[in-house]
Amino acid sequence: MREKEQKGDNMEQDLELDEPIPEKLIEKKKIQSIDELPGIGPATVEKLLQAGYTSLMSIAVATPAELVGATEMSEATAKKVIAIARTNLEMEFLSGEELLKKRQQCLRITTGSKALDTLFGGGVETGAISEAYGAYGAGKSQIAHVLAVRCQLPVEKGGAGGMAVFIDTESTFRPERIVQIANNLKMDSQEVLRNIRVARAFNSDHQALLAEKIEDLIKKQGLPIKLVVVDSLMAHFRAEFIGRGTLADRQQKINKHMHALMKLADTYNLAVYVTNQVMARPDTFFGDPTEAIGGHIVAHNSTYRVYLRRGKKGTRVAKMVDAPNLAESEAIFQIEEAGVRDT
Ligand SMILES: Nc1ncnc2c1ncn2[C@@H]1O[C@H](COP(=O)(O)OP(=O)(O)O)[C@@H](O)[C@H]1O
Ligand SMILES: [Mg+2]
Repeated sequence: MREKEQKGDNMEQDLELDEPIPEKLIEKKKIQSIDELPGIGPATVEKLLQAGYTSLMSIAVATPAELVGATEMSEATAKKVIAIARTNLEMEFLSGEELLKKRQQCLRITTGSKALDTLFGGGVETGAISEAYGAYGAGKSQIAHVLAVRCQLPVEKGGAGGMAVFIDTESTFRPERIVQIANNLKMDSQEVLRNIRVARAFNSDHQALLAEKIEDLIKKQGLPIKLVVVDSLMAHFRAEFIGRGTLADRQQKINKHMHALMKLADTYNLAVYVTNQVMARPDTFFGDPTEAIGGHIVAHNSTYRVYLRRGKKGTRVAKMVDAPNLAESEAIFQIEEAGVRDT
């Protein structure tokens, strides 16, 4: 202990001997997830996760005694991490008027099907994450292609007048499909293709990193991105964490990834559309034996959740499962060469 203290003293002295660091270079790193909290090690992070403390928010609202109980950390440490979590949370109060103004800036990207647009409250909303989940072949990726084209339409024609980023985890992006959809809308298909930036994500870390790089496209390259697609959100996470790592670890990563997406949506008023798979629920005897993977983390982070399935005679049925201000409802639509349309 003494040795450590002495070492610490020396380090401080070393620093003092150096040239003073210019103010602007000392970038205060903002803490975004609990594994970045200072003074707690990986074992404690693991215990926190296992006890359900997966976000800074959950730490910020905890009492010191609760954290001590969950992790055996000292009360002083608990108080410290709570204080740090609180200062790192953005707790700004907006007036109702400001919020309404913000809401009014939201754009809606239409799909080509009135029924599907209505289900989404007028189209896929900017400033939010919309999640479509369902079985293989349900139409999740088709809608992604349609949105990547239609987001480029001017606002008055049901678009958002911007570009699309497509994070492709399963190699499902098909430029030929974009051309078909664009041609049908009498858009210049080559230009439409140029306005879509596609990145193949090779694993979940790569996927998360790509999402973080989108800000550079907007800020550094000045690209007017209005849609971010992640197709599929969970495929890598699911594949990688089977038999490796812990559930808590996985949830932490997904949480961080989705927060990054939400921050993009909010900061740049763009739409995020993610697709998700379903897992069979053998324990469900009644109702629909399917549920989106990713559990509560994905559910809580998605603003809109739509369940897609095949309907009668080649139709598709979309069901709004979770939306902040919309009633649960269903829409029937069709996938065709031109994109999607009402039946
Ligand atoms: N050009 C097209 N014309 C009509 N239907 C199409 C076309 N391309 C794909 N589809 C339909 O879309 C389905 C695939 O949907 P997709 O969005 O890839 O499903 P998933 O939910 O697995 O992402 C195909 O089975 C087919 O029914
Ligand atoms: Mg797909």
